[in-house]
Amino acid sequence: MTEVAIEAMQNAYAPYSRFQVGAALLTENGEILPGCNVENASYGLTLCAERTAVAAAVSQGHKKFIGVVVVTNTSPPSSPCGVCRQVLHEFAPDLPVRLVNPAGETLTVSLADLLPMSFDKTELSKGQKQSPGAE
Ligand code: THU
Repeated sequence: MTEVAIEAMQNAYAPYSRFQVGAALLTENGEILPGCNVENASYGLTLCAERTAVAAAVSQGHKKFIGVVVVTNTSPPSSPCGVCRQVLHEFAPDLPVRLVNPAGETLTVSLADLLPMSFDKTELSKGQKQSPGAE
């Protein structure tokens, strides 16, 4: 998995930040889906590596994930941004997240610890009453 994530990191399109990120998602049936960050001249449109991996996986029919590796050229290895935590949470709230750098430093943390008091689909049915703006 780490090798797949490192290879993906080398494919990152990051001409603006020069900060390359690779990801590899492991599915319950053993498939590994890579992702890398894809930046844009309109900076806010940038896609993070974790989210491109999720998009690749879902578009190939995978929605059950049992692990993710994120590779960055930082020491200690960097943790996923808040948006990516939320996107991963949609599919695997307790996902083990392994943070790695090419030098071999590794740290594993649960997504549940990275995203406490999270928002998920169960919230959508807990509404008490409609607010005027929802009409
Ligand atoms: N980036 C990721 O790919 N994943 C993260 O979780 C954090 C940030 C990317 C986005 C951008 O291309 C670069 O890192 C610098 O923010």
